[in-house]
Amino acid sequence: MQGEFIINGENKKFDFDPRTRLLHLLRNNGYTEVKDGCEEGECGACVVLLDGKLVNSCQVLAASVIGHEITTVKGIGEMHIPHPIQQAFVDAGAVQCGFCTPGMVLATYSLLQRNPDPDDDEIRIALDGNLCRCTGYVKILDAVKLAKKYIAE
Ligand code: FES
Ligand code: FES
Repeated sequence: MQGEFIINGENKKFDFDPRTRLLHLLRNNGYTEVKDGCEEGECGACVVLLDGKLVNSCQVLAASVIGHEITTVKGIGEMHIPHPIQQAFVDAGAVQCGFCTPGMVLATYSLLQRNPDPDDDEIRIALDGNLCRCTGYVKILDAVKLAKKYIAE
C-alpha cells in the first residue's frame, strides 16, 4: 500500500506493507533517530509526537496514521541548532549511550508544553514510560529542570 505522511514538517510518501508499524516505517526510511527498543510499548525509546501527542511508534500501525503529522526528535532541533531541551540534556550530562535520549527529550518536550513548571514528582511521572539503562535518572531529572529554566529565560 501507499501512504503520505507529514514528517518533521515535510510531506513524505512511502510504499509499505499494511502490517508495518510506524516505528519500522520511520526507521526503514532513514529516521533512525527513532530508536527500536522493546517493540512492546514498554521502554519509550521509539516515541514520536503524533499530531503533537506522545506515542510509542512501535504500537502504532503506519496505515492508521496516513495523512497525520509525525515529529521525531530531529523535528524539534538538530545538532547545530539544538532545542533548549536538547541543549539541557547535554549540559546536564544526561546523555550517556544516548539510546533513550530521543524518547526522553520528546517526553520532556510534551511535558513542558502541557506544564511549563513541573515539580520533581510531575517530571518523574511524565518520564515514567521512558527507560534508561545508563544514567540512574538523576541527571535526566536535572536536565528537565535545566530545560525548564532555559525555556523560561
Ligand atoms: S520500542 Fe516502542 S516502547 Fe520500546
Ligand atoms: S543514556 Fe543509555 S539508555 Fe539512557
